[in-house]
Amino acid sequence: MFPDCLNFSGRTIQEGSLKQHRTHSVCSMGWFSRIVCLFWGVLLTARANYQNGKNNVPRLKLSYKEMLESNNVITFNGLANSSSYHTFLLDEERSRLYVGAKDHIFSFNLVNIKDFQKIVWPVSYTRRDECKWAGKDILKECANFIKVLKAYNQTHLYACGTGAFHPICTYIEIGHHPEDNIFKLEDSHFENGRGKSPYDPKLLTASLLIDGELYSGTAADFMGRDFAIFRTLGHHHPIRTEQHDSRWLNDPRFISAHLIPESDNPEDDKVYFFFRENAIDGEHTGKATHARIGQICKNDFGGHRSLVNKWTTFLKARLICSVPGPNGIDTHFDELQDVFLMNSKDPKNPVVYGVFTTSSNIFKGSAVCMYSMSDVRRVFLGPYAHRDGPNYQWVPYQGRVPYPRPGTCPSKTFGGFDSTKDLPDDVITFARSHPAMYNPVFPINNRPIMIKTDVNYQFTQIVVDRVDAEDGQYDVMFIGTDVGTVLKVVSIPKETWHDLEEVLLEEMTVFREPTTISAMELSTKQQQLYVGSAAGVAQLPLHRCDIYGKACAECCLARDPYCAWDGSSCSRYFPTAKRRTRRQDIRNGDPLTHCSDLQHHAVL
Ligand SMILES: *[C@@H]1O[C@H](CO)[C@@H](O)[C@H](O)[C@H]1NC(C)=O
Ligand SMILES: *[C@@H]1O[C@H](CO)[C@@H](O)[C@H](O)[C@H]1NC(C)=O
Repeated sequence: MFPDCLNFSGRTIQEGSLKQHRTHSVCSMGWFSRIVCLFWGVLLTARANYQNGKNNVPRLKLSYKEMLESNNVITFNGLANSSSYHTFLLDEERSRLYVGAKDHIFSFNLVNIKDFQKIVWPVSYTRRDECKWAGKDILKECANFIKVLKAYNQTHLYACGTGAFHPICTYIEIGHHPEDNIFKLEDSHFENGRGKSPYDPKLLTASLLIDGELYSGTAADFMGRDFAIFRTLGHHHPIRTEQHDSRWLNDPRFISAHLIPESDNPEDDKVYFFFRENAIDGEHTGKATHARIGQICKNDFGGHRSLVNKWTTFLKARLICSVPGPNGIDTHFDELQDVFLMNSKDPKNPVVYGVFTTSSNIFKGSAVCMYSMSDVRRVFLGPYAHRDGPNYQWVPYQGRVPYPRPGTCPSKTFGGFDSTKDLPDDVITFARSHPAMYNPVFPINNRPIMIKTDVNYQFTQIVVDRVDAEDGQYDVMFIGTDVGTVLKVVSIPKETWHDLEEVLLEEMTVFREPTTISAMELSTKQQQLYVGSAAGVAQLPLHRCDIYGKACAECCLARDPYCAWDGSSCSRYFPTAKRRTRRQDIRNGDPLTHCSDLQHHAVL
């Protein structure tokens, strides 16, 4: 039987030589063993494919129908009068997923999204008519598309929508406790949403709400030309990036915003924005997009004589995600699509995952690159990009940098000054004309951790889960695509951490029709993934171990860090369970060492 087959090979063949010898030496038994071994050989070939880098074949590929029939997806198919389920806010404590859409905000139960509450927040007839008269599309544009949805305080959320090309914001009451069951728009109090939500529903806002202040990267005008990073709300005067200066921002598309501490002193806290934008003139021949990371200090209140109510600590750097081509020309993935921050024990150093696509019309490709914050900080401490005039080249600035160094936060740690309003004039003048760094940020190991080029889809979203397995911790990526599928990928170190092998575990279709996945959240508490698109919202478990098969070897070969062979089935692995009772081998996917003694459990 199966285990005999294993035992036999286990005893006679060295682990390393298994690949060459498998079918010949192992299968010299009865018909049953032969079938088993044939099957075994197929699995090993699959494994070999991964190792040769032919990892386009997922271990499991599940159609929408298969996902439904195996109870692996729950979908909310949208309301007839709504769409654009793009703005997600996860609240694990209350066990809710808030979703901003067209004219509505939803509060879904994380356990099952079929259970939800909704707020209807349309625009008035007058607004809609004004929008129509301005030449906009009544269905696609003249509605209230929710673009900002943030936790405000213990009892309220803050929400902003496009308001039919007239952005508006307000608070949403959610109560003190989940049991309060409150979900209500504060409709007595609307605020102007300019600089918070874009006018045009096609544009996005990257936003962050901390300490009652809203940071948002968005377009602040009807035409969608005045892009800026703003801080609004709260007691201070609103503050923004310099206007009409393409060196600061050049037709950007904002992706996300994050607070990352720089030291143990909160005065050094910085807000980072991820975006893509047109390359600055002279930086590149022709029209090109660059992926960017931008920084500002949380305690930046603008300059005193110059840069009044403008950021004085804004700096940006290019993010590179590229692979060397055969002809010595690098293939660049410059169209930043999404960013995920994987927090580590040290809050100052999350790992940054970025999803990129190419700008080329001929060559369709996607990549995932990983960046370290220490590399980002090194670039911000390096040379500023400088040029003497419009017809000059950009060069690293060689002259004297004024003190305190532009980009440093006012604090006792580094700066030795109290407020950006105290900054000397030469610092402000320099900051204004040198917002970009000369050196780019390269990814960890100088190359993407994953590339997909030979497929007819592109990556759009990413979330990452850190999973404890028997042989270590693994980051499992869930990647959303523009055809409504989710890829589950694990990167596994081969010899060292510098040599990662990516294994495509699952490819799942989560929407009935091909549709772009535009939002994703992962709940570690619920062990569920939530996915948004124009058509609706879908919910799926992070793992479905039983589908890998009914034998230890299949479970082991799957190399899914969530799953292990428990003696009778492939099931969720919990690191607390006793060693040796669970069989799992993510690093090598080698069932010989892990399953060969399990004679009595083999089931085909
Ligand atoms: C959309 O339809 C739902 C019922 O399906 C209704 O409750 C809601 O008020 C409608 N929204 C608008 C903006 O008319
Ligand atoms: C939260 O903010 C809202 C809106 O400003 C306010 O009405 C409410 O009292 C605040 N709640 C708490 C607990 O501070």
